[in-house]
Parts: sequence; C-alpha cells; structure tokens
Amino acid sequence: MPVLGLGTWKMGEAAQRRADELAALRLGLELGVGMIDTAEMYGDGGAEEVVAAAIAGQRQQVFLVSKVYPHNANQRGIVAACERSLKRLQTDYLDLYLLHWRGRIPLEQSVAGFEALRADGRIRAWGVSNFDTADMQELWAVAGGRHCAVNQVLYHLGCRGVEWDLLRFCRRHRIAVMAYSPLGQGTLLRQRALKQIAASVGASPAQVALAWLLGQGGVAVIPKAADPGHVRECAAAGDLELSPRLAAELEEAYPPPTGPTPLEIL
Ligand SMILES: NC(=O)c1ccc[n+]([C@@H]2O[C@H](COP(=O)([O-])OP(=O)(O)OC[C@H]3O[C@@H](n4cnc5c(N)ncnc54)[C@H](OP(=O)(O)O)[C@@H]3O)[C@@H](O)[C@H]2O)c1
Repeated sequence: MPVLGLGTWKMGEAAQRRADELAALRLGLELGVGMIDTAEMYGDGGAEEVVAAAIAGQRQQVFLVSKVYPHNANQRGIVAACERSLKRLQTDYLDLYLLHWRGRIPLEQSVAGFEALRADGRIRAWGVSNFDTADMQELWAVAGGRHCAVNQVLYHLGCRGVEWDLLRFCRRHRIAVMAYSPLGQGTLLRQRALKQIAASVGASPAQVALAWLLGQGGVAVIPKAADPGHVRECAAAGDLELSPRLAAELEEAYPPPTGPTPLEIL
C-alpha cells in the first residue's frame, strides 16, 4: 500500500466544482501520489464518480480505497454496497474496502461480507475506520477479524491521542494506520507554531505536517486538496526529511498524549 494518498471527502457534491476536483486528482496521480481514498458516503456516490474519471486509463497504477456505510455492513449488504461502488468507480476491484465507522451490525457479519468479497477478488484487502483500541480488541476475537489490514483514524500533529495505545496495538498486530484529516482540515496549517517551524526549513506547513506523520512508522496519509498548489505541496511531503532538531521542535509545540485518550471522530 502506498503511504501517500489523496482524500475525496466533499468532492462530487457540486457540478461546478467537478472539473477542478478531477484536475486535482489527476495532477496528484501525475506527481506520483499512488492512492485515492473515497467512500460511498462522499457526495452520495458523487466522489466515487469523480474518482472513476480521474483514474480512467490508469486503474492498475492506483491503489483504490473505498468505504461502506455501517448501516450497509451486514453480510449481504456489504457485497451489494461494494458492487454499487465498483459500478460508480468503473472498476472490477478495490484494493482496500473499509467499514466507515462502527455501527450496530455485529462485527461477525461485516467480517463475513468482507471475506466473501476478498475470496472472489472484488476486494484485495479490507479494514476498518474510526475503531478505537477496544473495538480492535473485539474485532480480533471475531473469526477472520485478524485479516483486517488497516484502521483509518483521525490523526495529525494537533491530535495525537491514538499514540497512547491504538497505534501500539496496530503496530503489534501489523495493521497499517491511515491518518485521515492529516492537515487538521486545514486549521492546523494556520497555526503560528507550525508555520514558524516550517518556514525555518523552507517547507510548507502541509509538507511538514505530512512528513511528520509519515515519519511515525506504519502510518499512511490521505490529505484532501482541490487546489493545484495544495496538491503539489502534499505530493512533495515524501521529499522532506525531518531532522532530529525539527522533530524535537514539533514534539515541543505539539506534545504527545500523557494518558489514555478516547479516539476522536469527525
Ligand atoms: N474515515 C473517516 O471517517 C474520514 C473522516 C474524515 C476524512 N476522511 C478522509 O481523509 C481525507 C482528508 O481529510 P479531510 O478532507 O477531512 O481534511 P485534510 O486533508 O486534513 O484537509 C483538507 C483541507 O486542507 C486544505 N489543504 C490541502 N492541502 C493544503 C495545503 N498544502 N495548504 C493549505 N491548505 C491545504 C484543503 O483545501 P483545498 O481542498 O481547497 O485544496 C482542504 O480545505 C478526506 O478527504 C477523506 O478521504 C476520512
């Protein structure tokens, strides 16, 4: 799985923004970003349609991630939802399919649906999103639950609660963590501390925020950017190597959690 991808939340909602969204995703792919994250929820399927247009002719080069609504995540519902997503995405497989957040449907049913999709090749791997440590422990006790490959969670410099125990659980069980809203939905980038630290190394705040996450080990990032300049900055995140001094400055300005912290969810 690539460690750098592009998010698509809020895409596919308005016809007048479609050309810009498409251009942004295509630019990202051109610049070497190898993953796109979407969901049946985004734009009520509209984001998946924008993604289909962006990846047309280059499906094999893109690691494609989509998500199923919790209310669709029973054994049969998950298969039907996946088929609808595949149709919108104009592809016959997903690289990764995630349960968007935990709902009321027993995990056994969701796992059975994911495993059926995996067995017939419609998905290459499956995972979860917004699962805290206790949810992961429950999943681990379910038959087939240990095939979970990824947990996608809110994680950025200003929101480090996952480091207390969730990140450790995922590392121990070799589950990749995918950091969503890695730029704090843009608000993190406007903070003076980050702006000053980034300026001191001639980088953009977005580049520093993403490079810091990529340096955490076992963490992938999926920033969303519709503006071409933003896409370029995000795509350059992998080029920035954090020196020990820079890492220490970030650690001081954005300290880790000092105790158990419930998972924050957007
Ligand atoms: N699993 C879940 O429950 C969940 C929840 C939230 C998000 N996600 C996924 O994670 C993705 C990313 O999260 P997000 O969209 O919430 O927030 P984000 O990526 O943290 O921030 C996106 C915002 O930052 C701006 N931005 C991007 N690059 C920038 C740059 N270089 N300089 C300044 N501003 C920049 C974007 O503006 P422009 O668009 O104008 O460029 C946009 O307003 C989503 O799109 C979605 O795919 C998943």
